[in-house]
Amino acid sequence: MPVPIRSGTPKKPSEMMRLFMTTFIGIIFGFFLGISFPTLSLSKMNLPSGLFPSIDLTYIEDKYSGLSKQALFNAWSSLKGNKEASPLLPRYNETEIWVPTNPRGAERLPPGIVASESDFYLRRLWGLPSEDLTIQPRYLVTFTVGYDQKKNIDAAVKKFSENFTIVLFHYDGRTTEWDEFEWSKRTVHISAHKQTKWWYAKRFLHPDIVAPYDYIFLWDEDLGVEHFDAEKYIKLVRKHGLEISQPGLDPDRGTTWAMTKRRDGIEVHKDTEERPGWCTDPHLPPCAAFVEIMATVFSRDAWRCVWHMIQNDLVHGWGLDFAMRKCVEPAHEKIGVVDAQWIIHQGVPSLGSQGQAQKGKAPWEGVRERCRKEWTMFQDRMTNAEKVYYKAMEMDPPNSTAR
Ligand SMILES: *[C@@H]1O[C@H](CO)[C@@H](O)[C@H](O)[C@H]1NC(C)=O
Ligand SMILES: *[C@@H]1O[C@H](CO)[C@@H](O)[C@H](O)[C@H]1NC(C)=O
Ligand SMILES: *[C@@H]1O[C@H](CO)[C@@H](O)[C@H](O)[C@H]1NC(C)=O
Repeated sequence: MPVPIRSGTPKKPSEMMRLFMTTFIGIIFGFFLGISFPTLSLSKMNLPSGLFPSIDLTYIEDKYSGLSKQALFNAWSSLKGNKEASPLLPRYNETEIWVPTNPRGAERLPPGIVASESDFYLRRLWGLPSEDLTIQPRYLVTFTVGYDQKKNIDAAVKKFSENFTIVLFHYDGRTTEWDEFEWSKRTVHISAHKQTKWWYAKRFLHPDIVAPYDYIFLWDEDLGVEHFDAEKYIKLVRKHGLEISQPGLDPDRGTTWAMTKRRDGIEVHKDTEERPGWCTDPHLPPCAAFVEIMATVFSRDAWRCVWHMIQNDLVHGWGLDFAMRKCVEPAHEKIGVVDAQWIIHQGVPSLGSQGQAQKGKAPWEGVRERCRKEWTMFQDRMTNAEKVYYKAMEMDPPNSTAR
């Protein structure tokens, strides 16, 4: 009986073979580059004798569409971050530089000058650049703030040590007033009227901009931090391997979800029981793989993924909390709540008052309505995107996709 070929594997055997051969030759070639590098000079690139003597390197090179030894060497050494900038770089032709491995659009630059990542480190206008930074903060914390919450933010900022870069996103246009606080001078202030945390995050926290930070805190302005210490929080997050996390919320303050309620006597938790019928699967939100969006903390890698999921027009971020699990694997182990360092959600409806009265409705009603609408829109986009993907791949979607 003939076995039908699964529709999900479209590659023909000959294609598979070619792919295999290419990969194989690539691996061998890479290996030779690796082992021969320490003895390489610009003028000679010989195979160490005795190893795989039957394979001629020049032959393999010829297979690589005419790239010269020189170009290969340079491309490779620049990939390795070789500091000895060579005057001879991969060439497009004899007169132009063309480095395909550079970031898209920067192929004409010699790789040694390409700075593809940045940071929020403040620098001096004098002295040596290398002496600008006494500490290089490894963590980033951002607050989306209005000046009315200055007391809260002042208290919160003081919970973050000098190992944190602080960025304030101002939605009320008042930035200079903050200079009454000593820490304001070493803070980055970004101002745009009446925008949300996720709007700022999408525009100012591109993964390449926040690349030096191990963890990124994306916090609201109405969080009480009496029982929170940022350094201790980071320690716990590292210890328990949490890629996406939040501090536990004071249960006396009527929280929405069981998952984010703080528990006594433990360091972290990663799952919960919810009201009957709320969870289709104990490994899925809101019973696991779930934190809220008010005080989220991301690892660098998780943020690189989540940033790409943020939609430019869905500014309230509703629904992200249910979808963030798609960025880490296994999500029910890497998303969790830190109980030992916890916060109090004060529930100041700050953005609500930034809305606009319309059709006889209060400003906050319009904002609330849009939040709900965005949630549905986000879910629809995600569902459609997955549908399109699985269809294109001729695969059946996994059947435990929640919401
Ligand atoms: C090579 O250099 C010449 C002279 O600058 C230029 O006109 C040409 O477009 C370049 N590129 C190629 C692919 O020949
Ligand atoms: C800042 O980070 C360094 C290195 O991890 C650590 O030794 C130091 O204790 C941290 N500072 C504070 C205030 O925790
Ligand atoms: C998921 O798929 C498997 C295999 O196709 C099936 O046996 C199972 O009943 C499905 N589960 C649900 C909840 O649909």
